[in-house]
Amino acid sequence: MHELTPSAFAEFLRREGIRRGFLIWDERQGVLRPSHPALEPLAQRLASDEPDFDHHEGIFFQLAPTTGVFQAAFVHRTCRGQGAGGLRFWNYDTLGDLVRDGLRLARGMTHKNALAGLWWGGGKGVMARGTGAEDRSPEVRKRIFEEYGEFVTSLAGVYITAEDVGTRPEDMAAIFSKTRFVTCIPPAVGGSGNPSAATARGVVRGIEAALAHRGLGKIQGKSVAVQGLGHVGEALIGYLRERGVARIVGADVDPARAARIVQAYPDLDLDLRVVERGDNSVLESLVDVLAPCATGGVLNEDTIPTIKAPIVCGAANNQLGDPATDDARLAERGILYLPDFLVNRMGIVHCADEQYGSLPGDPRIERHLGDQWDNSVYNLSLTVLERARETGKTPARIALDLAEERSFEKHPIWGHRGAEIIENLAWSGWAG
Ligand code: NAI
Repeated sequence: MHELTPSAFAEFLRREGIRRGFLIWDERQGVLRPSHPALEPLAQRLASDEPDFDHHEGIFFQLAPTTGVFQAAFVHRTCRGQGAGGLRFWNYDTLGDLVRDGLRLARGMTHKNALAGLWWGGGKGVMARGTGAEDRSPEVRKRIFEEYGEFVTSLAGVYITAEDVGTRPEDMAAIFSKTRFVTCIPPAVGGSGNPSAATARGVVRGIEAALAHRGLGKIQGKSVAVQGLGHVGEALIGYLRERGVARIVGADVDPARAARIVQAYPDLDLDLRVVERGDNSVLESLVDVLAPCATGGVLNEDTIPTIKAPIVCGAANNQLGDPATDDARLAERGILYLPDFLVNRMGIVHCADEQYGSLPGDPRIERHLGDQWDNSVYNLSLTVLERARETGKTPARIALDLAEERSFEKHPIWGHRGAEIIENLAWSGWAG
């Protein structure tokens, strides 16, 4: 089943008469339970032969009733609270690619939220392009997201969705019209809007911690290479400019993105290129810092030997091609790598608690960006780097261990309620 295209899998579900399905981890029995016998092979494959499956509490999916789009929610761990993380609308070659992305991203959210000290668990939404109606017209696109909102409502709050790659604030508004379990909704309806600028600010703090740890001084006058000039990449360049960075190298597959930055910052020393998808040559730039802000998996056995920057710190989720080995590969080359889930927290920090109201220069958010709070991006990065130096482990390993430990802490009010919700969904006839 892993090798099927998402649309072939959708066809399989239609043939089997499966409208909504799940795979739920049964902790007591130690098995992954499918909602339908026809999904047993998928459950077995995930549980026995999928390195990214980490006893995720639940994977839920549906074929959207009118648009037919394959829509899914991956819930990793909900000890700290409901599984929170963005919704990705993306093209996947195979079901295996989609599932791997969902599993990894949801787990990454568990770690990110735990390290940020947020009372949220980890989850991620995924929708597969090409599986149902195309989103060419605004009306159809709106309907696709409304149907995702209905799906999220049906999950009874175990997953809280938000914006991610391929989605925008107006999509969140469409989701919000059908569910309360969404964040990053537009400010016009009381939300916090696009989280990307906040994310970029956090990445700058991570870079500053790395420079300080290495004894390389301030960010002013340094050079930075940014892969991906999208929402985060563009904002990052703006903040780097404010900090007096001397030179920016950048790459994007979309010529319009580069052009916009050249227009916005005529005073900056910019070297921006338009590349083919899969062209990672920007990672080879001779710069002080490399900031991957495009897609995941870019730090791997092919690219790591070519990296010249002494520091890698960027926003892209899951930058390591193989999380088990590529952090060590970077360390062996003397490259200081700050893991994404440590430094890209600000997007979710910005939006996750928006229902508690907002304040100008909100101190609850700003403390993550300062150096007074020991858990701020800057201070926690320094702590992680220091422990890595003391123990000889990689910063990614130290951060992961800390995140794992914190992720099992139970929510101080609600305990491990997500597990109860999932149990109820399993027995209440949610699947159909
Ligand atoms: P985006 O979709 O606005 O920007 C990504 C950019 O990367 C696009 O301009 C795209 O054309 C470009 N790109 C894709 N493949 C490329 C390649 N091979 N080489 C160069 N450029 C390429 O996404 P956004 O929101 O800027 O996010 C960037 C990354 O940061 C993603 O991995 C996302 O998951 C992660 N992230 C974003 C957060 C946010 O607040 N937006 C929060 C945390 C993580």
